[in-house]
Amino acid sequence: MLDEDGFLDMIATRKGFIDEKTREKMAKDEAKIREAAKELEKQEKQAKAETGISPTAQLWTVKYAPKSLKEICGNKGQVDKLQQWLHDWPNSAKAGFRKPGKSGMNTFRAVMITGSPGIGKTTSSHLCAKLEGYTPIELNASDARSKKLVENATNINNTSLDGWLGGGHKTLVAGVEVTDRTVLIMDEVDGMSAGDRGGVGALNALIKKTKIPIICIANDRQAQKLKPLLHTTFNLSFRKPDANSIRSRIMSICFREGLKVPANVVDQLVQGAQSDIRQVINMLSTWKLSSETMDFDQGKALY
Ligand SMILES: Nc1ncnc2c1ncn2[C@@H]1O[C@H](COP(=O)(O)OP(=O)(O)OP(=O)(O)O)[C@@H](O)[C@H]1O
Ligand SMILES: [Mg+2]
Repeated sequence: MLDEDGFLDMIATRKGFIDEKTREKMAKDEAKIREAAKELEKQEKQAKAETGISPTAQLWTVKYAPKSLKEICGNKGQVDKLQQWLHDWPNSAKAGFRKPGKSGMNTFRAVMITGSPGIGKTTSSHLCAKLEGYTPIELNASDARSKKLVENATNINNTSLDGWLGGGHKTLVAGVEVTDRTVLIMDEVDGMSAGDRGGVGALNALIKKTKIPIICIANDRQAQKLKPLLHTTFNLSFRKPDANSIRSRIMSICFREGLKVPANVVDQLVQGAQSDIRQVINMLSTWKLSSETMDFDQGKALY
């Protein structure tokens, strides 16, 4: 197991001679990592008390899904905008989506988050929704349930449409319970077929009249089939978080899990995964099954 001294040692010796300034910065980084690891421990205890399930048994990506905004690496501006838009949504609706608001987003009933895999698009959507008192319903755009929902919601003759559009009480739409405090998260929208009835066109029709916020998520906003959505959704593109913020998040997780991985090895993993945080966390949890440490060559060998 890694104790505090061992951890300090690991950081202090990672590159032989280290000058005063670097040492100071490293001490600061280390203090931050330690604090973050403590916070993770607290969350773990809380989760166990609330659910009775030990998070130890969970996938690390689930266990370490950010539970507060400050735990999300990168894209802070975009995440704040998303939260504000959700916050304003009921008022925007009252104004008939005619008042742009500070960010210019409040004329939109839906947003589209785009960006590369594993950088927190889905996580941020869920977290912002919860923080604003919404219940997120995530639908994978390519699955049958969501096709049915989009179809039903856009079918004028369908009675469930009243509830869907009316807000207020619960309505079942294609087996999904919807209230006026529901946020619909349509994940992997670029995986939707453009042609069939439940496709992008139908989703777009729904967006044009929806009475609840819709967050669409895709990898590439330039994708041809997403074209209809470009006018109806506010563009929130997420960038890859910078190496520093990913490193400190990953180091905190490693520290918490008693896994010895020097900072330069973490950097190497992050680089190899092209900043896909999910992938880095998965690699580390797999590695932990058989070992407590990872050095540079072992990190490299993973690619
Ligand atoms: N920005 C981040 N900060 C902290 N943890 C993150 C971040 N991004 C991803 N993670 C970790 O990776 C997991 C997966 O992230 P998420 O599902 O939000 O990625 P995504 O951008 O939606 O990816 P995809 O495009 O593949 O759907 C999270 O549960 C979390 O553990
Ligand atoms: Mg996702």
